[in-house]
Amino acid sequence: MISKLVLALLVLLRAALLSCQGTGFAFNGFSSSNLPDLDGIAEVTPDGLLRLTNGTRQKAGHAFYPSPIAFKNSSDAPLNSFSTAFVFGIIPEYPTLSGHGIVFVVAPQKGFPGARPSQYLGLFNETNNGNSTNHVFAVELDTIQSTEFQDINDNHVGIDLNGLDSAIAVPAGYYPDDGAGNKFQNLSLISGRAMQVWVDYDGAKKQVDVTLAPFKAERPSKPLVSLTRDLSSIINDVMYVGFSSSTGSVLTSHYILGWSFQMNGPAQSLAMSKLPSLPRIGKKPVSRLLTIGVPVLCISFAAVLVTGLVYYIMRKRKFAEILEDWEREYGPHRFKYKDLYIATRGFRELLGTGGFGRVYKGTLPSSKMEIAVKRVSHDSRQGIKEFVAEIISIGRLRHRNIVTLLGYCRRKGELLLVYDYMPNGSLDRYLFNQPKVTLNWTQRFRVIKGVASGLFYLHEGWEQIVIHRDIKASNVLLDAELNGRLGDFGLARLYDHGTDPQTTHVVGTLGYLAPEHTRTGKATKATDVFAFGAFLLEVVTGRRPIETRGGEDVILVDYVYSCWNNGGAIMEAKDPNLQEGFVAEEVELALKLGLMCSHSEPDARPTMRQVVQFLEGDVPVQELSSSLSISSSGLRFKSKEGFDEFAMSFPSSTDKGFSTTYSVADSLLSGGR
Ligand SMILES: *[C@@H]1O[C@H](CO)[C@@H](O)[C@H](O)[C@H]1NC(C)=O
Ligand SMILES: *[C@@H]1O[C@H](CO)[C@@H](O)[C@H](O)[C@H]1NC(C)=O
Ligand SMILES: *[C@@H]1O[C@H](CO)[C@@H](O)[C@H](O)[C@H]1NC(C)=O
Ligand SMILES: *[C@@H]1O[C@H](CO)[C@@H](O)[C@H](O)[C@H]1NC(C)=O
Ligand SMILES: *[C@@H]1O[C@H](CO)[C@@H](O)[C@H](O)[C@H]1NC(C)=O
Repeated sequence: MISKLVLALLVLLRAALLSCQGTGFAFNGFSSSNLPDLDGIAEVTPDGLLRLTNGTRQKAGHAFYPSPIAFKNSSDAPLNSFSTAFVFGIIPEYPTLSGHGIVFVVAPQKGFPGARPSQYLGLFNETNNGNSTNHVFAVELDTIQSTEFQDINDNHVGIDLNGLDSAIAVPAGYYPDDGAGNKFQNLSLISGRAMQVWVDYDGAKKQVDVTLAPFKAERPSKPLVSLTRDLSSIINDVMYVGFSSSTGSVLTSHYILGWSFQMNGPAQSLAMSKLPSLPRIGKKPVSRLLTIGVPVLCISFAAVLVTGLVYYIMRKRKFAEILEDWEREYGPHRFKYKDLYIATRGFRELLGTGGFGRVYKGTLPSSKMEIAVKRVSHDSRQGIKEFVAEIISIGRLRHRNIVTLLGYCRRKGELLLVYDYMPNGSLDRYLFNQPKVTLNWTQRFRVIKGVASGLFYLHEGWEQIVIHRDIKASNVLLDAELNGRLGDFGLARLYDHGTDPQTTHVVGTLGYLAPEHTRTGKATKATDVFAFGAFLLEVVTGRRPIETRGGEDVILVDYVYSCWNNGGAIMEAKDPNLQEGFVAEEVELALKLGLMCSHSEPDARPTMRQVVQFLEGDVPVQELSSSLSISSSGLRFKSKEGFDEFAMSFPSSTDKGFSTTYSVADSLLSGGR
């Protein structure tokens, strides 16, 4: 009586305990907090995979839900319905060679002591396999064909009752609900890809359905395999659920990614997005990545690095410039080489080549201002500081008849001078050698007056006296309105410091050099006036100061003087290109002024102030001849003084140009012929 009561109490207690623990569970990935009971070589990986086997040979691994589950309402009651779903992955070491499979199992205890790995799948051994006292229900995902258990192939799904001779087995695959006749699709269990399995036992129908599908695929409505059998005699009232897996001689890893189980209802759907991912299949691709990919990556990276570095260095070198401390005070006058390089698009558009260097056209990107950049080579560091200082002070000159120097840039062995761009080029293009366009008299006279006014500003209009040193038609540039502007300042200085031995001491240009200049080497306002005289005669006659005509050297001053001396027929000297529309008085004035400025005695030459007054008509023309005498003797060079010094400037050159120049100089200096 008492024992019956105790038994009833115990039954009640157990039922309460079981119902407390619930009749279902779900694992979306595994962790140490919800760890199933493990044995053998099974473990949970840090990223949440349940790994039943870890690649060791001839081993088995088990994982069980820790608590027992009531499958019946009492020990003699019929079996209740149950349902489970799980996602698994089998990763073989070699893609085509299979190890052994995975089994979902319902068993009377957690684990199988004495069971064997390999084809026994860690469930049975040769003595107890198939014994009805085992009470084991299993669904095998078998990847090896074991003939001793009548396996159909090496890729099948079977339902096992107490033993490994499956009650029913079919090739692995599924019937997708694709609306195209639900045709069977093979699935390879050892593909290394995750797949989902559903096992459902219907207690009323007494039917087991096993369904397989690829990972994340919809559950097919048609199961892969069904078995109608009352499992009540196999499954006890209280059982454990879990997995078993075993390895044989081929290394294989078995993983469970997620698992749910439910009594008397469908198992919870697994949250696919939460499941951990399988490791990549095989070790080969990884090692290939390491042996080929990583070195290739490293080499590519190194190549990119080296290329970048080389590019950087080359760029650095390309745009290198010299900036010394003393130059910092020139701030805005100092241009960056890179900016000039960009402005001239890599020095592409050549405007002209002069004695000092090449001139390129450019446009400043910031202001869209057009510029001319002159590249002057210099080898000596000596004197560069003074020169730059002079350049900068000249850069402060502002006059409408002077080409504005905007700034400079200095590199190794090279100086770049940045000027306002003069769209119409230099004056000599319009005067000599059958020009395409000539200037009419009004234009020429305006240029003459402009240059005179510019030179006057240099001599007297600024805080310092500036001697230009190199006045000539090719150094007069024409702006957009054809105004004459003086350019190329200070280059005579650079010339001075230059290293070309042939040009040392020659300051200015032959034919424009005043006789006392070659004698003393000193540039004065009067030497500038002399050069201006030569320039005046050039513009009016359209001839160069020294020309070779019919094998003879013609000195322009002598020619004009001879015309004037010849009964006052000075007008004959004018440029034959000046057809009509010229003002005879102005032409005569210009020619006479030219002769006066070319006087060999510096004191006899007018000043630029006087020149401007004459040109502007402020002083009557009649006074011209009386105030300053033009005499034959004054225009001729009386002494050979200075010749030796001058000759030394052209040391033993065999160059044709120089020997010609030499003979010209000789005749120029030799006095009257
Ligand atoms: C597999 O697991 C066993 C037992 O935990 C361990 O001794 C062995 O080193 C593991 N092997 C690999 C390849 O991880
Ligand atoms: C067992 O009990 C549960 C709930 O108490 C009930 O839903 C189920 O139908 C019962 N099973 C059988 C076979 O009577
Ligand atoms: C087989 O398994 C049973 C129980 O699991 C055990 O008692 C028996 O010793 C095993 N037999 C062998 C040969 O290992
Ligand atoms: C089944 O197992 C039981 C207990 O382990 C044993 O007594 C019995 O002889 C076995 N039956 C067969 C057919 O091997
Ligand atoms: C499925 O696999 C079997 C055996 O490996 C093969 O005979 C059959 O042609 C395959 N069917 C499809 C649709 O791939």
